[in-house]
Amino acid sequence: MFKHPKESQVTITQLMLPSHSNFSGKIHGGHILNLMDQIAFACASKHSQNYCVTASVNRVDFLSPIEVGELVTLKASINYTGKTSMVVGLRVESENIQTGKIKHCNSSYFTMVAKDDAGKNVAVPGIILDTEQAVRRFSRSIARQQQTRHRSSRFNASEFKIEEHLDSITQHNAKVVL
Ligand SMILES: CC(C)(COP(=O)(O)OP(=O)(O)OC[C@H]1O[C@@H](n2cnc3c(N)ncnc32)[C@H](O)[C@@H]1OP(=O)(O)O)[C@@H](O)C(=O)NCCC(=O)NCCS
Repeated sequence: MFKHPKESQVTITQLMLPSHSNFSGKIHGGHILNLMDQIAFACASKHSQNYCVTASVNRVDFLSPIEVGELVTLKASINYTGKTSMVVGLRVESENIQTGKIKHCNSSYFTMVAKDDAGKNVAVPGIILDTEQAVRRFSRSIARQQQTRHRSSRFNASEFKIEEHLDSITQHNAKVVL
């Protein structure tokens, strides 16, 4: 079975309240992460028609701060479908209500896995790729997975060779006192 990404696209807009702010008066990153997780869940669950769990989050860079009183919009759509997993692409923007200026705050990729009632991973429908953008997003997910798989194992405790790293550490803000 294949489904169109449009069927599960989700958008939410939320007003940033003073209770969401941190000590410097900007919006707390954790609040935005919470919203991102919720919308990724909603999108993946709609696509799979099952409750989903977050398996991994691929990089969240906070590109610009969000102020109290701004409207934050999160958009989610399925970028990739595996057997039981889906990659949900997320985009977060904030809008200044008075000026209408829109800032891109972050983009991220959440891998969600569908579960059945017994908590077992369950197969998800594939996605229909009918635009160049959809093909690009799907291909980017495949490439990202390959990069993750090829991630070096040289930092595993059993393979780590300390002498290969001491020189480079001295160029950073740390003091080795072994
Ligand atoms: C993530 C989880 C579902 C993986 O399931 P598993 O049975 O251990 O692992 P599997 O190897 O069978 O992987 C299942 C799918 O998840 C994907 N997956 C597993 N770990 C992953 C990771 N770290 N990053 C991306 N994808 C991952 C696999 O590629 C596989 O995809 P596919 O079926 O589309 O090929 C399982 O570890 C889990 O339930 N973790 C807890 C999730 C959770 O509670 N999240 C909220 C945290 S508060």
